[in-house]
Amino acid sequence: MAFAPPARSTVLEFYLNGEKVKVADPDPRQMLIEYLRDAKGLSGTKRSCLQGGCGACVVAVQEYDVATSRWLYRSVNSCLKPLVSCHGLSVTTVEGVGSERKCLHQVQKRIAENHGMQCGFCTPGMVMNTYALLRSGGKPTAEESMKNYDGNICRCTGYRNLVQASESFCKDASPEALALAERCGQHDADVCDKISSREHHSMEKMSESVTFAKDGFTWYAPLSLGEVLEFKKANPRAMYVLGDTAKGIRQAAYEVMNGRASHVISLRHVTELNVLTKSGAGLTIGGALTIQHIVEALERMQTEHSDLQWPSALAEAMKYVAQHHIRSEAGWAGNLLITIQRGFPSDLFPALLAADAEVSFVTTNAQDEKRIPIADFKPGAVPFNALLTKLHIPNLGSAFFKYYRVGQRKWLSHSFASAGFRVTVDGSKKITEARVSTGYWAATPSRSLQAEAALVGSTFDTATLQKAIAAVHSELEFAEERQFQTVDNPEGKDKYRRNLPDSYLFKFFQEAQSFYGIKSWPDEMGTLSALPLKAGNLQFQEVPGLENKPQCSANGLTTGSVRYTDDQPIPALFGYPVLSEASTGKLESLDVAEALKVEGVVDIITAVDIPGQNCAGFVPGEEPVFVEIGGSIMTSGQQLALVVADSYRTAKKAAGLVQVKITGANEGAIVTLDQAIEAGSFLQGAHFKDVVNKGDVDAGFKSSDLVFEGTTYVIGQHAFPLEKQTALAVPEEKKGMTVWHSTQGHDFTRAKLAGVLGVPGAFVVCKQSRAGGAFGPKNSRQVPVAAMAAVAAHKLEKAVKVAFEATLEQQAVGGRHGFKTKYKVGVTKEGKIQSCDIESWCNGGCTHDFTGFLTLEMGEAIPGVYNWPNMKINVHAMKTNLPSNTAVRSFGSPQGYFVCEAIIEEIAGRLEKPVEEIREMNMCGKENAVTPWGQPMEFYNVDSMWKKLKQDAKFQEREAACKAFNEQHRWRKRGISAVPLAYGHSYAYAAGTGALVNVHGSDGSVTVHHGGCEIGQGIHTKVAQVVAMSLGCPLDLVRVADTNTEVVPNARFTGGSITTEVVCESARQACKQLVETLRPHKEFLTKKDGKEPGWPELVAAANTLLGHQEKLSATGVFAPQGNQYATDLEGNALGKYHGDYFTYGAGISEVELDVLTGEIRALRSDILYDVGQSINPGIDLGQLEGAFVYGIGYYLYEEPLRDARGVERSQGVWAYKPPMAAEVPVEFNVELLRDNPFPKGVLGSKAIGEPPFMLAYSVLGAAKKAIASVRHQHGLSEHFQMPMPCTVDAIQKACGVEAKHFDCSV
Ligand SMILES: Cc1cc2nc3c(=O)[nH]c(=O)nc-3n(C[C@H](O)[C@H](O)[C@H](O)COP(=O)(O)OP(=O)(O)OC[C@H]3O[C@@H](n4cnc5c(N)ncnc54)[C@H](O)[C@@H]3O)c2cc1C
Ligand code: FES
Ligand code: FES
Repeated sequence: MAFAPPARSTVLEFYLNGEKVKVADPDPRQMLIEYLRDAKGLSGTKRSCLQGGCGACVVAVQEYDVATSRWLYRSVNSCLKPLVSCHGLSVTTVEGVGSERKCLHQVQKRIAENHGMQCGFCTPGMVMNTYALLRSGGKPTAEESMKNYDGNICRCTGYRNLVQASESFCKDASPEALALAERCGQHDADVCDKISSREHHSMEKMSESVTFAKDGFTWYAPLSLGEVLEFKKANPRAMYVLGDTAKGIRQAAYEVMNGRASHVISLRHVTELNVLTKSGAGLTIGGALTIQHIVEALERMQTEHSDLQWPSALAEAMKYVAQHHIRSEAGWAGNLLITIQRGFPSDLFPALLAADAEVSFVTTNAQDEKRIPIADFKPGAVPFNALLTKLHIPNLGSAFFKYYRVGQRKWLSHSFASAGFRVTVDGSKKITEARVSTGYWAATPSRSLQAEAALVGSTFDTATLQKAIAAVHSELEFAEERQFQTVDNPEGKDKYRRNLPDSYLFKFFQEAQSFYGIKSWPDEMGTLSALPLKAGNLQFQEVPGLENKPQCSANGLTTGSVRYTDDQPIPALFGYPVLSEASTGKLESLDVAEALKVEGVVDIITAVDIPGQNCAGFVPGEEPVFVEIGGSIMTSGQQLALVVADSYRTAKKAAGLVQVKITGANEGAIVTLDQAIEAGSFLQGAHFKDVVNKGDVDAGFKSSDLVFEGTTYVIGQHAFPLEKQTALAVPEEKKGMTVWHSTQGHDFTRAKLAGVLGVPGAFVVCKQSRAGGAFGPKNSRQVPVAAMAAVAAHKLEKAVKVAFEATLEQQAVGGRHGFKTKYKVGVTKEGKIQSCDIESWCNGGCTHDFTGFLTLEMGEAIPGVYNWPNMKINVHAMKTNLPSNTAVRSFGSPQGYFVCEAIIEEIAGRLEKPVEEIREMNMCGKENAVTPWGQPMEFYNVDSMWKKLKQDAKFQEREAACKAFNEQHRWRKRGISAVPLAYGHSYAYAAGTGALVNVHGSDGSVTVHHGGCEIGQGIHTKVAQVVAMSLGCPLDLVRVADTNTEVVPNARFTGGSITTEVVCESARQACKQLVETLRPHKEFLTKKDGKEPGWPELVAAANTLLGHQEKLSATGVFAPQGNQYATDLEGNALGKYHGDYFTYGAGISEVELDVLTGEIRALRSDILYDVGQSINPGIDLGQLEGAFVYGIGYYLYEEPLRDARGVERSQGVWAYKPPMAAEVPVEFNVELLRDNPFPKGVLGSKAIGEPPFMLAYSVLGAAKKAIASVRHQHGLSEHFQMPMPCTVDAIQKACGVEAKHFDCSV
């Protein structure tokens, strides 16, 4: 039947930040984020993962909720929300909350004041998250406000400051949060919080159906079921949609229904589907209701019936569905459907299955409604055109219900396996009814009838438990999850997944026994909870001028007015890359015909369009911008072409239509280190023999009492900045190009682009205001991306922007290097190290990039704080067919640290001694603090810090408390671990990165340009502070300008933690010249007036019109002379060593381990750190905590997933899981060592961005101790190997958990 659209609305109307907007002929395929950013220029809402998995794009919406007859306020992911679904709504973006020019909202103010941001890219999403919570719920509790972080990732801050800012609005706020509230001023809850009426006067609930149609695509939002079915009859291929969030799963969709449907029927406003009724029989929930509706209905029921247990337990289960922004958009119906259609590992389905829920559906006739138990809702159970109309949750009466699940991390992580259990018992506690359901990836959740049969008629005893476990296994519908079967771990996590229900059943028995008063268990039941983060004890010292100040741009960041590359208000075309999916082969052809047909596509750029050299890497000829036809593929993710179109969405769609022909795809691909070692595939010139060669290792082994050998693996890590690789190229005269890009190596980009474009270097200008996180790969891996944009802009003579999303970034951009390390260590029988021989190999990927330098740093990181009388370290860089691995925060040190501590643990384990004893025994003291290569570790203080921290953190008492806890608890264990740190810094990295200070004579204000990049480390703020202090001018007169290669030339990279110091010193040198220039004027005015002049007066005197025209502009360049790279004119090295100085620290962490699942919760961390005299303690504390949490991610949660071909399988944020607030230590105490200026440092300071990363090893160390305690109980050796990744499955495996141990006898 021909398509007969109902009355067509042409104008979409909604409120945006208080103003009514009308969009004529809206495109039904468009997402809200695209409209906000690209049509309205509201760039505060950030584009990052585009999968609903990071929260950077969160906005608030209000609409009339038909089901509950009220105006609902909530937060949503604008990257998943279709623009047309906003008809009749009110949308608020960060720009609508408050403004830097007018007035900040208290949410913005408190985040800004509390150092709640670093790079600031997540900040608008964080603001909207808390703002929407207050608007929707009034005054939350601290726990609610903590849990409200389940949908927002921050890669920089470590979350505490953010969580505390939100907590400051809570009724049970901690004293620290209340102090913040007091500092920031009153928040008028009556005016600002909770809107339960309509937000805008003329907002009305939708009173008629709407249709939006464009280019053959239709969005139809009817009000009645009759209309729905009529439309469906006329358009059988039309698809139902509620939240349209399913498209975010495993991919960045960016188009309604992921572009799979031409006609879409929105169910949101259908009256018959907006039912929510409660009766004695239970709840009935209409097909247009969201998961949040169900949660709230169950919670209401619980409040009304406090004698019941199941409503809150079922609601709790649903709170693990995705995150709250999605739960308030997404429906139960879509969730159930994707579960049976796509094998999605739903949380909702198994929970509802255990609750005996039922679903109703219709097909063509509204009267012909059918109802089936959810247990029968399997693939093929309902016709393809079924519309799910109702969900029925029966009243489960006195039943006891529980749901369990474990994901890679606590929140926003699909479950490896989940299970729901329900029982009722009779008066003698015998089970009369039972339900057991399990859910897995790629398998429809199912009931275990045999397990249920095993339970019914039995009591909660060990025999019943074991019978039920065996029964679950006997009928498990289990499907492999291939995503985790990687080249490094071919077995994947299937064994863990398969056995998780055993643990769940045991947990359920424990909880049921406790519930029914059968047995009282210690507090080790259930799931580790996400406790609100405590403020912790922060100790630091301020000196005048170097105070704890919020970032200069803090207000701009919280209001979204700061512009990142993608936010520049320059009209531009969008580029989307075509990447190789093969790791090797020959590029035969690129067929672009279909892609070119897509309306809006402007051109497709390939290697033939490059005007200069096709080279984007460090080594000439090694890495092309685009692979040429006939050229070789080196890695998957390699750039083949760039589709340029008038929108991001169009470019992306068309890129998927380019046909790539590669012959010999993946043949001979070398992916792993073992393959590379076997093939002798070296990165020539980048591997180092004798990184360390001290004494005589063979003689050392001979004189040792014991010699141990081992091999360990450390994995890679994605840098995961929230702002992905982004570049905007704008053509200029004389074939020049201005390139805005997200970078920490802007001058390197400039030099490389000049070669690519074939123009002199001065004709390329690279700029950036700030990067939304960088963490290493934006030193070099930004070049290929910027080059694509520049070549396209050159060819088209128009501005072109390329912005990666998470999936692209992880495919194309390498990360931290993985290492394989063999070690041999000789010790005395007490454990004193005598000799050590280390051979290590790193996976460099397909090009050199920084790998040479990194192998050196990894090798030099291994010795750490210990004394190695004889030591040899060789590190080899291997070439593989992976994206080039590169700099990532701490550059080789985390890998070296892991190897070092693995050796120390080996010694401790073999000798059955506490690892801290071995650490202390081998730790350098002040008297012998010299590296194995002979460099004195100047101002060494690790030994004293170690003692102090152990004392301050009460290590011994707490160690004893952990022991006592472990003796009382079988299934929860605690561990506490202390680790030391010495971290070498090299100024070589950033040396020569200069500064230009311009004083404006008109009013004394100052503009500073410097060669560093603001990447969240607070460089602009610290430079401004140093300039203000050096000149003696007010801080608020100092402005730090954008990074720009045409203003400060020849800048080196921003990295290695030391750029801030280098640039502060450069600026200080410039200021010294200015002070000299001003000195005579100051002396004259002081003499004349009998008092020192004010700053503006002084500057005015030096700049009088036609009088004095002093040069109020000066440059400074800091070029350290102390390392081996600095040379005299003749090229003789001025220094002896690679590094310039060392930073020291110590860390102690305590964790609790859920033995049954392998999950851990960091309870407390204490850090003592030597940053010299901090330039800004607030910023430094933020850097420290951020680095620490980044380290927790590396050692415990993040796992890059590459398949046997080398292709990245984690699908953006879907299976790659940086820590969220729930992974952060509950209590975090930090002391920046006081009265401790570093004599050789810039203003007495030391670097901080990277070293604290390593102290996160204390969390892993504590987890290992907890594991050792379980192993002891299980009769296993307490000495065990645990190579990375130390994820939940590896931890549980190390615990030796077996169902046969599960004992719940009374
Ligand atoms: C990042 C992310 C993480 C997630 N994590 C989890 C998780 O951990 N656990 C979990 O359980 N879920 C998770 N989900 C799934 C999520 O909770 C939603 O259930 C899911 O996205 C679908 O809901 P929706 O209403 O948006 O469906 P839509 O996207 O609108 O539709 C999905 C499918 O259902 C069909 N459909 C929708 N409603 C009906 C209806 N009434 N009748 C017939 N067909 C219908 C549509 O045609 C479509 O095929 C996650 C989703 C995302 C994006
Ligand atoms: S959640 Fe929307 S961009 Fe990440
Ligand atoms: S400040 Fe949160 S991602 Fe950078």
